[in-house]
Order: sequence, then structure tokens, then C-alpha cells
Amino acid sequence: MSDFRSPNMTSLRLQLHPGLEVLHMPAGDVWIQRDDLIHPIVSGNKWRKLVGHLAQLKVDGKGILVTFGGAYSNHLVATAVAAQGSGLRSIGILRGEEAMQNHYLDIASGAGMQLVGVSRSLYRDKSAALEQVLHQLDLSPENVFVVSEGGSGPLGLIGFEELVCDWINSKVKFHHVFHASATGTTAVGLRKALDASELNMSNNAEEVIPNGVTVHSILVLKNKAEQLEFAQRHAANLNLIEGYEFGGYARSTEALDNFVQSLSILNNIPFESIYTGKALFAMNEWLIAQKEMDTLQVDDETGVFPVVFLHTGGTLNYSGVTLPVIDS
Ligand SMILES: Cc1ncc(COP(=O)(O)O)c(C=O)c1O
Repeated sequence: MSDFRSPNMTSLRLQLHPGLEVLHMPAGDVWIQRDDLIHPIVSGNKWRKLVGHLAQLKVDGKGILVTFGGAYSNHLVATAVAAQGSGLRSIGILRGEEAMQNHYLDIASGAGMQLVGVSRSLYRDKSAALEQVLHQLDLSPENVFVVSEGGSGPLGLIGFEELVCDWINSKVKFHHVFHASATGTTAVGLRKALDASELNMSNNAEEVIPNGVTVHSILVLKNKAEQLEFAQRHAANLNLIEGYEFGGYARSTEALDNFVQSLSILNNIPFESIYTGKALFAMNEWLIAQKEMDTLQVDDETGVFPVVFLHTGGTLNYSGVTLPVIDS
């Protein structure tokens, strides 16, 4: 407990190229991209979405990072730790004015983030909330770099380019990528990076990720997916999978929890039931259906299906203790 309250993470220890491993699923083996290994807290798509923002902040020469989140926001925690690692002052605008205390906020403030609560109605208007908080703290907007809630927006897409480069270098052959989806930033970032890589590499057929890699985005947070629905209407090979919300955000069932737990034990990889667990469940059913229809074959050399599961993180793993993350 005390480790959570005062994380002493003065610098980021990032593993930026965690790579692909074999994941044993009930329906057969697939590849898994271990982005959960990037960092104990700034892991998975949190890092991928922050990296473009941090690079731009540096270019702009700003010293204060401001972002938004709810009391259980994984993004808030990740941003606090990333800011600390980059030597930046950070401010978190919190949804709700009541006194709040939990592991997530402890880690964020332990990493030096100044948390300022605003009313729920003000929080809905992000520019007004920002204006009020900057005024309250007597800060000038010129010194401040704002990362939008959840790390979404154009700068949140850039980090996926590096991931696709790693996949090209790995020479692993695959035609499908599965991942959990909420705001759609991950789906859009991946889709764009895959499309750009096909264009860039088109001179060398050997090196190209097979044309038509389909990104399967499994919607776990339905009401936030406008960006994803927009992207799906405008991008080929972006497949939105619905029906695996298991009652809604942060809800679960015994069957899902058992599935997630046994998969974690079998593979010795942490998963949770809020994001990655639902996506894994959906992918397993998809694999079973493909096998029944005989539409997907394992690779002759590796015995693995040409499918990648992107581990988007979602488990806070600090000092050996793993917590599921409830990202609001
Ligand atoms: C672990 C995890 N997976 C997936 C997602 C969904 O990502 P996105 O909002 O980019 O669709 C989130 C939310 O940020 C998350 O915390």
C-alpha cells in the first residue's frame, strides 16, 4: 500500500519495443503485442497516445502539462508519471469537486501532479474548466500545454507509427489486429499507421505488412466512440465489433472474469475484465468461427494464427502489485 502512495519514479524506464510473443488462447495460438511491458504505469496505449503530445510539448517549449480525467482515470495517472519522468510540472483537472481519494489519485499526486477538482457541469466544457483552473492557480496559458482527456486527438495518433515499424521489422506475418476500443484513438492511430506503412514500403514487396491487415476494434465503451464510427465510415479494413460490452463500462460477468483469470494464468500475462479481457473474449469467439468456416489457417512454420492481439495495458503494475484500472 505505501508503495502506491509515494511512487518515487523520477525517470521513465520505458521499454519501447516490447515486441510480439505467442499467446495461447482456447481457440489456438495467436501473437500478442506486449505493450503492457512498456512501463508499469505509462503502459499500453497510454504511452502510445502520450508520446506525440510530449514531443510537441518539447517543440513548443512549454513547461507545464495540463490534462483532464475522472477519479479512476488511467490516463491521468499515466500522464502524471510521464510528466514527472520528463521533468515537467503537471496539473490534473478532476471531474467532481467532492473530496476524493483512491490509489489512482495517490499515484498521480505522488508523481507530483497538482489535482484540481471542478464541478461536473464545468468539466463538460473543457475550455471553461481550463480557464477557471489557470486563473485559480494564477498561471498564464502561454506556459501551458494541454493534453486532451484520454490522450485523444491528432497528437494521440502518432505513437502508433512506431509500433507499426516494429511489426514490419519483426517479419511476423499477420492479417488481423484485435484490440479493445473506447474513444477510437487507438483504432484510428493504428489504421493510419498501417495505411502509411503500406504506402511507404510499397517498393519492397517482401517487407510489406500483408495488404489489407484488418483492425478489429472491440468496443467496450460504447458512448465514446464517435471518432471510431467516423473512422470506420472512412477507412477500409477497420472493423468495429460490438456486442461484447458485458453490461457496459466496468461491468463484468463471472464467465468473463473466469476466462480472463485463466488466460492470465495460462500465459503469465496480466489482463483485466474492463478492456483487454472483453477484447480477448471477442477475439476467441471470432477465432472459433473462423476455424469452423475454415477461413483462417495457422502458419506452417510457427503453428500460430496470423492474428495479433494488441495488449493496450490497463493494469497498473507498481512494485509487483497489479490493479485493474477503471478508466473513466
Ligand atoms: C487498457 C485500455 N485499452 C483500451 C482503451 C481504449 O483506447 P481508445 O480510447 O484509444 O479507444 C483504453 C482507454 O483508454 C484502455 O485504458
